[in-house]
Amino acid sequence: MRKIIFVTGNPHKVREASDILSHVGITVEQNNCGYPELQEDELEPIARFGARWAADKLNREVMVDDSGLFIEALRGFPGPYSAYVFDTLGNARILKLMEGETNRRAIFRCVIGYCRPGGEPYLFSGEVTGEIADEMRGSGGFGYDPIFEVGGATFGEMEEEEKNRLSHRYAALSEFARWLKEKY
Ligand code: IMP
Repeated sequence: MRKIIFVTGNPHKVREASDILSHVGITVEQNNCGYPELQEDELEPIARFGARWAADKLNREVMVDDSGLFIEALRGFPGPYSAYVFDTLGNARILKLMEGETNRRAIFRCVIGYCRPGGEPYLFSGEVTGEIADEMRGSGGFGYDPIFEVGGATFGEMEEEEKNRLSHRYAALSEFARWLKEKY
């Protein structure tokens, strides 16, 4: 089993990544050291900077995950500001912003950054298209899961295993695992 340090303060992300990567022989260990989160309009530079910064700080190979919810009717909001918007507005206010809106299409994106000490960071992206639900549903998952619907059910209503087969994180981590297998 190969072990990779996952630098994140979010235990839900660690749980999902552990589940997804365990199928390809990779174990994940959480490290909470944090990294400076750049203020950028895209997820990629945030993940790139974080991965390099954490690999150099810990002197270990690391991965980071930067994710965001992009709502079409809100022109991609909250996107890279998803964490801040979730903490300040939360799901109820997002639903309020979407009241009366017929275009409910939204995309969840995840960018995994991977870096070795002194090396160049590599990025792996995944996304899933869904819809913003009319109301919060389900108590599973975290963050925007209760308002993000795929095929009629919100991520919050799904078993963890089901979300982990459909999610933006699954798509990004699958790319990452494929690349790791080829390269090392
Ligand atoms: P960050 O990647 O930690 O910056 O997360 C951005 C925001 O999106 C945070 O509020 C997370 O809770 C939320 N988020 C990230 N991934 C997911 C997910 O898989 N489901 C629901 N919310 C998520």
